[in-house]
Amino acid sequence: MNGCGGEGLRGQAMAVLRANDRGGYTVPSAGLYPFQWNWDSCLVALGWARFDEARAWREIETLFAAQWPDGMVPHIVFHRDDPAYFPGPAVWATGRLPASSGITQPPVAASCVRWMLEGARDRERALAAVRRLFPKLLAWHAWFHSARDPEGRGWVVTVHPWETGMDNSPAWDAPLAAVTPPPDLAPYERRDLTHVDAAQRPTRAEYDRYMTLVQLFRELAYDPAAMVARSPFLVVDPATNAILLRADRDLAVLADRLGERDARRRIEGWIARAEAALPDLLAEPASGLWRAFDLRCGRPVEARTHAGFLALYAGLGDARLAGLARAWAGETRYALSSVPAADPAFDRRRYWRGPVWPVANFLIARGFAERGLTDLADRLRRDTAALIAGEGFREYFDPLDGTGLGGTRFSWTAAVWLAWIDQPERDRGPNEPSDPLK
Ligand code: GLC
Repeated sequence: MNGCGGEGLRGQAMAVLRANDRGGYTVPSAGLYPFQWNWDSCLVALGWARFDEARAWREIETLFAAQWPDGMVPHIVFHRDDPAYFPGPAVWATGRLPASSGITQPPVAASCVRWMLEGARDRERALAAVRRLFPKLLAWHAWFHSARDPEGRGWVVTVHPWETGMDNSPAWDAPLAAVTPPPDLAPYERRDLTHVDAAQRPTRAEYDRYMTLVQLFRELAYDPAAMVARSPFLVVDPATNAILLRADRDLAVLADRLGERDARRRIEGWIARAEAALPDLLAEPASGLWRAFDLRCGRPVEARTHAGFLALYAGLGDARLAGLARAWAGETRYALSSVPAADPAFDRRRYWRGPVWPVANFLIARGFAERGLTDLADRLRRDTAALIAGEGFREYFDPLDGTGLGGTRFSWTAAVWLAWIDQPERDRGPNEPSDPLK
């Protein structure tokens, strides 16, 4: 950073990744999250890539080594057990090796792989890694477009709030209310509250419902068709769908680089279907903001969250989103709050219900920058830099006074510093056309 202690922070960010390195994978935060998380790892690889490319590729390859035979890539890989975390491998009981959870997370991998390839100093190593990863990425996307879109509608469904990566977002309040914990819900003891103040974490009522869904999926032996048919929580998440559409576009670029023509045609079909379906299903008529859709009730979810701006990151999105984002950012000292400050659901310190998340800012700002909304992209970058410089590599931050919250020495916050904040102008602008098909 220019004269704001950036050198020191770069070193500290690298030290966070090194300290959280468990040999081939990086834990999000020692203690609180002691395993490999799917989207964390992909974004963390972008940080590693700034100072150790071999280690960056290894991060993604380790994640994909846990891919299921049907193409699904689990949201947590339990390389070794750690009793300090709940729910661990014995609760999920998926019977996989390496042990893993039985649900997925937003598919940022293909986009991260494309960015790593384009930024690579060692091109040969990068191309070799992309060649190995490409069939696995394709299989994961194919899984999303079939197992999670069995009728070929153009949107993918999500069966658990944890799959969205935005666990207790107010967008899940209404759909989660329809989940009734059974009287025989296995008793459990939360471990997250030994690390973080309960006021900054999901509530007990939410946790009971999360565990109800896990218990159901376990009973269904993680059969994808049964999970979609039976889950009482079934939503179309704007973040997952925007991230998948963007990742499909990036996968198409990778297919071109590798001369994979058949794959490229297949991906084009997915992109066309999503482009035709998503805006109609998700965009709020009054503002263009994408909101979740509750398939069990057959109606949009009212709650507005920052995930809605990922429409731009997906290469879609209404021009009105710029005005909405400026107003939203204008309500807080630090942008972008995960929920608008004037909203009754806003809770400035509780996880995904108000705080600023560096990693969400990174993706949302990319969408702004690619649409030429540089004032907004700069505001998010500046604010993210100020928050981290002021409070360290925390998990999330209070948007009103900047207090650092949740876990400390957080890997993806360090990676966001390395891959976004600590970059000269020329390296952080938009990619070449994010949509190779237009
Ligand atoms: C929480 C977050 C999720 C993240 C995980 C590990 O569950 O909601 O997005 O992947 O922690 O950091």
